[in-house]
Amino acid sequence: MYRTTDCNTLRKDNIDQTVTLAGWVNSRRDHGGVIFIDLRDREGLTQVVFRPEEHSQVADASHGLRAEDVIQITGKVAARLPGTENAKLATGHIEVIASELKILNKAEVPPFPLDDPKVNEDLRLEYRYLDLRTAQMQQNLRVRHRVVKATRDYLDERGFLEIETPVLSNPTPEGARDFLVPSRLNPGTFYALPQAPQQYKQLLQVAGLEKYFQIARCFRDEDLRADRQPEFTQIDIEASFITDAEIQTLIEGMLVRIFKEARGVDIPTPFPRMTFADAMNRYGSDKPDTRFAMELTDLGEIFQASQFKVFRSVVDGGGVIKAINAKGAAALLSKEQLKKWEEWVKTEFGAKGLAYIKWSEGGEWESPIVKFFGDAEKAALAERMNFTAGDVLFFGADTWGNVCEVLGRVRLRCAELLKLTEKSDALNFLWVVDFPLLTLNLEEGKWGAVHHPFTRPHPEDIALLEAGEYAKVRAVAYDVVLNGVELGGGSIRIHERELQSKMFEVLGVNAEEQQTKFGHLLRAFSFGAPPHGGIALGLDRLVMLISGADSIRDVIAFPKNNRGCDLMTNSPVEVDFKQLREIYIQSTAKKS
Ligand code: AMO
Ligand code: AMP
Repeated sequence: MYRTTDCNTLRKDNIDQTVTLAGWVNSRRDHGGVIFIDLRDREGLTQVVFRPEEHSQVADASHGLRAEDVIQITGKVAARLPGTENAKLATGHIEVIASELKILNKAEVPPFPLDDPKVNEDLRLEYRYLDLRTAQMQQNLRVRHRVVKATRDYLDERGFLEIETPVLSNPTPEGARDFLVPSRLNPGTFYALPQAPQQYKQLLQVAGLEKYFQIARCFRDEDLRADRQPEFTQIDIEASFITDAEIQTLIEGMLVRIFKEARGVDIPTPFPRMTFADAMNRYGSDKPDTRFAMELTDLGEIFQASQFKVFRSVVDGGGVIKAINAKGAAALLSKEQLKKWEEWVKTEFGAKGLAYIKWSEGGEWESPIVKFFGDAEKAALAERMNFTAGDVLFFGADTWGNVCEVLGRVRLRCAELLKLTEKSDALNFLWVVDFPLLTLNLEEGKWGAVHHPFTRPHPEDIALLEAGEYAKVRAVAYDVVLNGVELGGGSIRIHERELQSKMFEVLGVNAEEQQTKFGHLLRAFSFGAPPHGGIALGLDRLVMLISGADSIRDVIAFPKNNRGCDLMTNSPVEVDFKQLREIYIQSTAKKS
């Protein structure tokens, strides 16, 4: 037996017992020949003392111990001397006086101190197995486990069946690029890794399974960010004979259970509902962070007859003028920085400009545009925006969509600058509903699905769809948002063959393509498909928010970096010519 107990269990009650522990040397201190070791295992730390006067051979051997050596010790539990107790440690009242020491494996000096929070992430990822030894990462993976366990228990209690679906499958459109896998047995053909199990879970409804869920691995070849990985995990759910309101209630209950079990907090339900139009109009985002206000305020009325040509022409052209007030930001933003912000919105979001008015404490209004404003305009503006000394106003003038998008980004950047959410432990859940069904891709001149092509048009808007008024058609779709992060999204689906076919047609998928790409689904719908709907929650994002991590990389055991590489295994790698030939692939590129 390697151990009689773990490193987080011993208390005063255990004094005088002989125990055996195994684990890693967390730290070693030499107090005049007496060696103290913090022995670490997954559960915690226990102090082990090597006393030369009692066990001289063992004490001698302990001098050679180094951090991360794996050892086994046997000894007697003793009370710590008064004044040396450590109240912060669960085992802080005792220590183990070692009488035996066995070195199970020596460790080289680690490439970085394990508990140093400033270590470069690339290095952490290269030695991920060491990084995962830290208390924080172990805690994150525990939270992840608890979230998955609570999810499974909750859905099982409600009659949901966990069913796996293929990873080698056909492309299913979720808006990203596919990862492709060549088929050796079928030369010239490819599987696509699923961006989501969307079609399979719908086909399981046609199959009469009624309530499905899966902790599903999904793959998307897209640009990576703090909350995006090329492979990630969804809590994927689909059910038959269910309404959007019922799905939302189911998910609220599931999140209550998850937050209780994984974070020990009670979250109130029902979550507020906000329409997509409202979310964009007030927060400039379809995933609004409502922990702070700084709402977008419409100023069209004030600038109707303005002398400022930029604003006037936008109003005359049917566009909008909006502003936000970054309260207290004047002291944090120099003229140079404001210039940089303008460059940022121009290059990143195609904005035409970013007019501002900065009002420093005890100063005048500083602004490139205020010289064009009359006194009445200024007074109305200050009143409407609650503009006082210390504030900065940012303006957007353009089409409604562009203004909302740009000011939404500026709003988030202001919140970051002002540290508005840094100390907040608020959990602002929210349903965003009434999304548009379709969006016009201006570059391609084609209509695309806002969610995916299987989303049901709002029953009241079917006539608009028939009439070709695509921009006005709402979807029966909903996103659940937490603190400005899109946790999940879903919809009621189309279950009628004709309507699905019509939807494909609107999306520019012709009859032939419908058959080759989606024939299986259309056929299935003609054999008695029940009304159905569902949702998928991003598990990684959920765990990130519960554990307070900054990135989903911190809640995934072996994540990829922002270039899609696993720095530990060096994946992806080049493969040899022979292996490629077997799958009929010729590579023209070299790994850089
Ligand atoms: P959607 O594409 O909105 O919907 O995805 C659902 C949720 O998955 C998470 N997510 C991601 N997490 C990490 N990295 C990524 N690259 C990534 N992409 C998405 C998000 C998102 O809200 N089949 C539909 C769901 C449905 O209609 O039922 C779907 O996949 O948290
Ligand atoms: P201009 O007259 O183009 O030099 O612009 C004067 C100021 O208005 C600059 O600070 C621009 O950033 C800003 N500006 C110009 N166009 C817009 C716009 N569409 N929305 C917001 N600000 C703008």
